[in-house]
Amino acid sequence: MMGDLTKDDFEKSLRVRKIKNGTVIDHISSGNALNVLKIVGITGKGGMVISVAMNVPSGKSDDLKDVVKIENKELAPEEINRIALISPNATINIIRDYEVIQKFRVVLEEKIEGVIKCMNPNCITNGHEPVKSLFKIEQTTPISLRCFYCERTIQYNDIVKQF
Ligand code: CTP
Ligand code: ZN
Repeated sequence: MMGDLTKDDFEKSLRVRKIKNGTVIDHISSGNALNVLKIVGITGKGGMVISVAMNVPSGKSDDLKDVVKIENKELAPEEINRIALISPNATINIIRDYEVIQKFRVVLEEKIEGVIKCMNPNCITNGHEPVKSLFKIEQTTPISLRCFYCERTIQYNDIVKQF
């Protein structure tokens, strides 16, 4: 049973074998792996090799985490930092020839531009003007963003729905 596996057992299992090259998004808050894939724009349609593990032991505590492994692709920082909107503790590991060559926490940027749609239908960003959406962080846990133009706020549930 998955819940009884130690971190060590889990690492040894085929399910999450180490990858040779690519990106491992680790310590995703449990249950959010699919939202993470969506927010970075990975649909699985492009032929990429992706492994997803959900609700597995995190090793650091009794908590559970999700893990996403994307083979042969090193994600760019602007794609990666969007993850902080839904999983602020996620870590990014860049893997080359089986070694972790870079490890960092996602960063919640102060301004979120062109990623999320404002919920206000009358907002200038939803009109015919070529104005990109722009939000500022109102609150981090739980996440709340405020539209720079119309001041409408948007919360976690509505953010996740957009991906
Ligand atoms: N990993 C992988 N393939 C590799 C190397 C690492 O899939 N060739 C994965 C590991 O399974 C782990 C993550 O990348 O999920 C980070 O690896 P590592 O830094 O070795 O693990 P930890 O020290 O446990 O990381 P942390 O302290 O960030 O939890
Ligand atoms: Zn707005």
